[in-house]
Amino acid sequence: MNKLNEIEKIIENKSAEEILKTLSQISSESIVFSTSLGYEDQVITHMIFSANLNISVFTLDTGRLFPETYSVLNSTLSRYKKQIQVFYPNTTAVENLVSQKGPFSFYDSADNRKECCYIRKVEPLKRALKGHTIWITGIRADQSGNRSDMPMVEWDESNQLIKIHPILNWTLKEVKDFIFKNNIPYNPLHDKGFVSIGCQPCTRAIKPGEDFRAGRWWWEDASKKECGLHK
Ligand code: ADX
Ligand code: SF4
Repeated sequence: MNKLNEIEKIIENKSAEEILKTLSQISSESIVFSTSLGYEDQVITHMIFSANLNISVFTLDTGRLFPETYSVLNSTLSRYKKQIQVFYPNTTAVENLVSQKGPFSFYDSADNRKECCYIRKVEPLKRALKGHTIWITGIRADQSGNRSDMPMVEWDESNQLIKIHPILNWTLKEVKDFIFKNNIPYNPLHDKGFVSIGCQPCTRAIKPGEDFRAGRWWWEDASKKECGLHK
């Protein structure tokens, strides 16, 4: 049995908390969780920190986040007294980008937008994942069409590790209920129509009935709405 199948088997029929706990006990694995500090990720952060699990946590600070996102980072650090490693874009790459194309190049074309996402997110992500064997995310299946048929455990070819989405099958209501029940700090923008929160210039609130990811890169075709973190 290969490692992917073994892990699938180990976590089969387990709750998200049990999945995280079980994985963290496999001594041969080095597990890392990426948090954007949104609703879903705060659920997983709570599970990891409150049970003292052996899983490291990082966030990618693109330099263009909402002030509210920094507040959640701060309140999460105060609440749990644990470390969240922060990764920044490569200084020279971001200096060259903004010097050559200005601060809003991403609105001009999909290529420019992907260039900015690569510099501010994808390259730092590669550094953050280096040396780890399992990557945990807060992805949920009903966030987008692309994600609806995602498996909970998958091989990430570009980063050469196993990627696991423990709350893949949770609904937004389950996420919110968990947040309120456990009094977990969350981004106040979620109460103002922001469901999926990324960088400030590229995220807006959605209207009732709009698609979950309609507020991300809203000027682009729905088919292009991924930033390269998740293929
Ligand atoms: S994205 O591809 O559109 O940017 P999304 O915001 O839906 O991703 O988040 C999906 C998962 O990607 C999150 O649960 C988290 O694991 C990871 N992620 C997204 N943004 C960041 C970030 N800035 N820092 C760390 N992880 C992130
Ligand atoms: Fe740049 Fe917008 Fe991508 Fe953030 S979401 S990295 S600002 S293009």
